[in-house]
Amino acid sequence: MTALAFTRTEADRLPTAEREAILADPGFGNHFTDHMVSISWSVDAGWHDAEVLPYGPLQVDPASSVLHYGQEIFEGLKAYRRPDGSIVTFRADANARRLNTSADRLALPELPEELFVAAVNELLHVDADWVPSGEDQSLYLRPFMIADESFLGVRAAQKARFLIIASPAGAYFTGGVKPVSIWLSKDLARAGRGGTGAAKCGGNYASSLLPTRIAAANGCAQVLFTDSATEDTIDELGGMNLFIVRADGTLITPRTNGNILDGITRSSLIRLAEARGHRVEERDVTVREWREGVADGSITEAFACGTAAVITPIQALIGEEGTLLDFGAGAPGELTMSLREELTGIQFGTVADPFGWVTEV
Ligand code: PLP
Ligand code: COI
Repeated sequence: MTALAFTRTEADRLPTAEREAILADPGFGNHFTDHMVSISWSVDAGWHDAEVLPYGPLQVDPASSVLHYGQEIFEGLKAYRRPDGSIVTFRADANARRLNTSADRLALPELPEELFVAAVNELLHVDADWVPSGEDQSLYLRPFMIADESFLGVRAAQKARFLIIASPAGAYFTGGVKPVSIWLSKDLARAGRGGTGAAKCGGNYASSLLPTRIAAANGCAQVLFTDSATEDTIDELGGMNLFIVRADGTLITPRTNGNILDGITRSSLIRLAEARGHRVEERDVTVREWREGVADGSITEAFACGTAAVITPIQALIGEEGTLLDFGAGAPGELTMSLREELTGIQFGTVADPFGWVTEV
């Protein structure tokens, strides 16, 4: 398709001192940059009206399909400031591809991958000053697509909008890189066979909120979901993939079974670990195997991974019966932290990128 040209409407930018105060301690998802991207779609016109405009509320008709039937998908990626001041994105093409996988499942239109990447770059050019330079800080980009037809019949909408907003980010979990405890959700499932588990759609996160609230009430930072049929085979966390590390250096991670998100951090870590000579097993793994391995010392580390959380070491798994496993003084594990260092080094430009994952904008 021919490239769409973006029109730009300048925002009244936040004064420099206020922006710098935010960038000094951004937290996660609290503040937004001066601009956003919007591209419209309709069955008849295809993708059109590509705009960079001031960040602000959307006009959404009360009958808009997204408000009633949840026809929505999103992505998450980060832009990093390298020591020389330049800005890079990490595997934006993979996010573009995954958006289209989600679009297919949610009966939304595909967005040409080059348009996704161009839209990310447009926003980064206009809001470059918002990419922070502090340790472990980045600009989190949130592309998303909503069905936007005013029609209450239940069918795929004939109008949609793709938007990108951006938010400066520090650590996702408060307290920095500190091992977290996770909660095993039994009766409340996130996904089932043939459902939307592999898509990045808002509904998956809506269904994770109640178990996440229960997790928090039990002192846990995240929920671990198992396959709803076995209640033992591990799927993933509410917003992250899971890796388990054996004492012999083998990494185990649940296979992409149609219920879990095919994480870009996950696939990057598989490549990094294999390049170091580690064996990586993508397969079914159960809570029982994990517990027994920790008990007999054959499993020594575990971590969660995702764009927002990077790599977060796991301390313990807690369930209704109490503590199911605990790494004790072994958390955070050595391999967990060294993979974290290598991945963030590639992202921040302090370690060579032999994979071609980072792209200057
Ligand atoms: N699983 C879920 C449910 C997620 O929300 C995320 C975050 O995006 C991930 C896994 C990790 O994916 P990625 O590494 O692409 O961010
Ligand atoms: C991400 O890591 O990008 C996520 O989407 C996780 C969460 C913030 C929803």
